[in-house]
Amino acid sequence: MNPPLRIGIAGLGTVGAGVVKLLAEHGRLLALRGGRPLKLVAVSARSKSKKRDIDLGKARWEKDPLALARAPDIDVVVELIGGSSGIARRLVETALRAGKHVVTANKALLALHGAELAALAEKRGGILAFEAAVAGGIPIIKAIREGLVGNRVSRLYGILNGTCNYILTTMRETGRDFEAVLAEAQAAGYAEADPSFDVDGVDAAHKLAVLTGAAFGSKVNFAGVHVEGIRRVTAMDIQFAEELGYRIKLLGLARETRHGIEQRVHPCMVSLKAPIAHIEGVFNAVVVEGDFVGTTMFQGRGAGQGPTASAVVADLVDVARGRDMPAFVVPAARLADKKVSPMGRHVGAYYIRLMVQDRPGVIAALSGALAKERISVESMLQRGRAKSGQVPVVLTTHETEEAAMQRAAERIGKLKAVSEEPCLIRIEAF
Ligand SMILES: NC(=O)c1ccc[n+]([C@@H]2O[C@H](COP(=O)([O-])OP(=O)(O)OC[C@H]3O[C@@H](n4cnc5c(N)ncnc54)[C@H](OP(=O)(O)O)[C@@H]3O)[C@@H](O)[C@H]2O)c1
Repeated sequence: MNPPLRIGIAGLGTVGAGVVKLLAEHGRLLALRGGRPLKLVAVSARSKSKKRDIDLGKARWEKDPLALARAPDIDVVVELIGGSSGIARRLVETALRAGKHVVTANKALLALHGAELAALAEKRGGILAFEAAVAGGIPIIKAIREGLVGNRVSRLYGILNGTCNYILTTMRETGRDFEAVLAEAQAAGYAEADPSFDVDGVDAAHKLAVLTGAAFGSKVNFAGVHVEGIRRVTAMDIQFAEELGYRIKLLGLARETRHGIEQRVHPCMVSLKAPIAHIEGVFNAVVVEGDFVGTTMFQGRGAGQGPTASAVVADLVDVARGRDMPAFVVPAARLADKKVSPMGRHVGAYYIRLMVQDRPGVIAALSGALAKERISVESMLQRGRAKSGQVPVVLTTHETEEAAMQRAAERIGKLKAVSEEPCLIRIEAF
């Protein structure tokens, strides 16, 4: 038997504990598949006395996670602490600098420092692997790096945050509004006590930035992602969407345009005919369009102990086998600094929902505001009279430029008959 791959794990929370369990439960199988035993040598977390539902066997406890990066008896450091800076970043850098391999699930760290870390790994001869960082159990990084490597990717998009997808699905199924469903999701453990990273789109943007880097051979550029979350999506918009043949999903989308790389995360109207419209609840999905392969779609659980541990261990087996590829598919020195396509240049169709005073001339004023920007209306829905005098009006447009749409929405918002800021949702064509 070949010498074991000696593993040090930092972080024994949801993911770390899952990895410990998986390594123990499938030890023989992994040794066979990895060509050598995968041996847990040492671990580290914040509190040694914390009760954990795992058997650490003979693994030694390191008080300081950085000790794992320096230990001569460790080949690969598994970083499962989280956070884009602080100890997680120091640990990954120290381990790579020491020539060790690193496996991490930390999308925040990769979104902000992915290009430098990839360069450091290559310089020192270590493998940097992060399958678990994007879409949990879905092997999407492997798919892009290996199975789809022969293609030029024209576009990718996905449901990258299970919490948001769960909230939107539940809002649709129950007809309740965002705040109520969020509170319930928090009570059920599907949403964090501080849900802002998820519901404001930041987590999805981290994952999109990492995917974009791998798929387009560009330096990971989180700052170049246009980000909007789901707080402003109402039960009313979800219901109108269904009537119009759409479903609202928080998507992350990336493509190359003549203005540069477009990366955006925001609620989208997706046709009910598109398979991704039917990915519901906590599930994630990623669609990759390649020039030779056509459209491919991957779906599965985007978070949770089992799926995330599955992805981490897949990376460990690669390391055990010595399967080495540049972290972002092309060598770090060749990753391009691609221009960011400004959001104002985005071209697409739009859904606009307004609350208006039900009186003559309102529709003409709305049409006038759109016509000024040369935006043509595709459809209009108006609901019957309300006692309050406020009625919703929904318009969908033909394709137009985002900048024009924003100007028109601003003008519409200022109309006397319009009582709230217009709700604007982009319609995606798949
Ligand atoms: N949870 C998921 O489903 C999921 C999915 C995909 C990716 N991820 C990523 O995986 C990583 C870990 O997530 P998680 O959900 O497992 O987090 P978690 O449950 O909060 O666990 C974090 C672990 O890190 C340890 N830790 C925190 N600060 C530390 C420090 N200063 N020194 C040493 N250890 C420290 C904690 O120690 P104590 O246990 O002693 O407090 C804990 O064991 C994150 O990057 C996350 O984004 C998570």
